[in-house]
This record gives sequence, structure tokens and C-alpha cells, in this order.
Amino acid sequence: MSVTVRVPAKVNVQLAVGGARPDGFHDLANVFLAVGLYDEITVTPADALRVTCSGPDAAQVPLDVTNLAARAALALAGRHGIEPAVHIHIAKDIPVAGGMAGGSADGAGALVACDALWGTRTSREELLEICAELGSDVPFSLVGGAALGTGRGEKLTVLEVGGTFHWVFAMADGGLSTPAVFREFDRLGEGARTPEPVASWDLLEALAKGDTGALAAAVSNDLEPAALSLFPELAQTLAAGRAAGALTALVSGSGPTTAFLARDASGAERIAEALRASGTCKSARVAPSPAPGATVVHPGHRDAAGARD
Ligand code: C5P
Repeated sequence: MSVTVRVPAKVNVQLAVGGARPDGFHDLANVFLAVGLYDEITVTPADALRVTCSGPDAAQVPLDVTNLAARAALALAGRHGIEPAVHIHIAKDIPVAGGMAGGSADGAGALVACDALWGTRTSREELLEICAELGSDVPFSLVGGAALGTGRGEKLTVLEVGGTFHWVFAMADGGLSTPAVFREFDRLGEGARTPEPVASWDLLEALAKGDTGALAAAVSNDLEPAALSLFPELAQTLAAGRAAGALTALVSGSGPTTAFLARDASGAERIAEALRASGTCKSARVAPSPAPGATVVHPGHRDAAGARD
């Protein structure tokens, strides 16, 4: 008996960041777009809480209670007064410490998977509340599609998307810690530029219309100067993608993954090939957007049709 949940990565098509708040977080206008790169989280009953991970970056994933998937299981079990006796396996395809919300995806995925496994039937509101406690990006991993995140990014408004956007992601050799990038943002005095972050109307309209050219013209990431300051080599990756015909190139979230918007699927393949050949990144992957949020793909012991595991 097990449950498997598939959860997408994200790119921030707008990340407007204000100054540091008294609690250390930053107010954001954060336009999330879920993209078709996925982690799969499988939960199986066990004697005690245990996390395992597979995939090329598995060695970099913590398997203790600092893993958001473990914290999600503990939070859900705590609310329902049950033992978190579960084996959580993460099949990892989202880059680790890459600025694509891979850790958040695992948190949201484990939450949905444990809720199904334990039959705790937690309401959507309560699941989103637990997600927000786990981290600023976790609610979006649950919801998927596209959304505007305000506050520290956890207060979501779902956005319409009128078409498919074709992305290329270049994975860097190494990771960046999100708190370190925000600290660098503060050190560079970037927060003074955006006293009150707001979403760009041009960007929201481009998403709603599915207009790739308009989206390319409207994307922005206030964390990019801080990410480039900590990881200067990314400038070469961005330049290589632009030279290969990307309509726009930006750092994904806090980086160091870089994101490139292509006109169509074949353009994305060409840009990915050029990025691989450029020697400026570890790997390059194409992914369409939007993508659905956390979704049960393997319901375990008995699904609606009555099929058995
Ligand atoms: O919410 P989450 O745990 O993902 O945030 C990780 C870190 O990123 C925070 O501890 C903080 O340093 C930084 N952060 C921030 N402002 C936000 C979101 C995250 O400063 N809105």
C-alpha cells in the first residue's frame, strides 16, 4: 500500500522584492509559473518516519527532519494526533538548491501523499495553511498553474494562463542558498528600489493571453543582481542562451538555475542544445508551462475505480 504524488518545479516570471521586514522576510510580488519538471513523492507505511531519495542530485538532499517532506509528514500527523510512521521516498528530478522550489515541491507532495495514505481528509484551506508554515513557496507547489504570491510569497491569488510557454532551464554546477541570496540582496541595498512590490499588469496580461513575446518583454527578477554577485559565472550562461535565440533569459528565483523563454517547442530544443554545447552549464532541460500542482498519480490500495495496488 502506497501513494505517489507528482509535484512540479516553478519559475518566477516576476519576482519584485521589497526591503527586509522586522521578521527578516521580504515582502514580495511573486508571479509563480509551474513548469513541467517534476519530483515524485511516494509514501508507504513504515515503523517510523524515514526519508530516502533517488536521482542524479540525491546525494545533496538532506534525509533528516530538515527535509520539508519529513516536516510536512510531522505537521500533518501532529494536527491529527497520529504517529508519522511513514517511509517517504523522493524521486528527484528538480534541481537541488536551484531556485526552482524543489524542496517546497517535496513538502507539498509529502503532505498530499500522507493525507491520502492516512485518510485524514484535510481540507484544502488547512493543507495550504500547513504549506505556508513549511515555507513561503510551498503553497504554490500544492496549487501549481500560475499564481501571484504576496506577503512573503505564501498568500496566493490564482492567475489565468491563456497558452503554453516553452522554457529551457540550465542547471548550474553547484547551488545557492535562498537566505544567502536574500542577504546579498540586502547587502547590495536592492530593497530600497522597490518600497512596495506590485505585480506588473503587462506581465499578468501576457500570461492571460498566452502571449510569449509580451511575457518575454515583461519578466523580471529583483534577486538576479544578488544571485549574479554570488555566482558570477551565471552571466555567461545567460549570454549563451540569449545568443542561441532565447526571447529572454533570467535567473530562476534565487538561482543558480537560469531560465530561457523560447518561441515554441522546437526553439526550446535548439536553445537547450546550444546551452549544452556552450560549456556554461552542467545540463539543460526543456519544460513547458503551466503545469498542474501536486497530483496523486498512484493512489495506493484502492482508487475510485476499485483497482488494487
Ligand atoms: O520561507 P522559506 O523558508 O522558504 O524562506 C527561506 C529563507 O528565504 C528565509 O529564511 C529568508 O531568509 C528568505 N526569504 C525572505 N523573504 C521571503 C521569502 C524568503 O527573506 N519573502
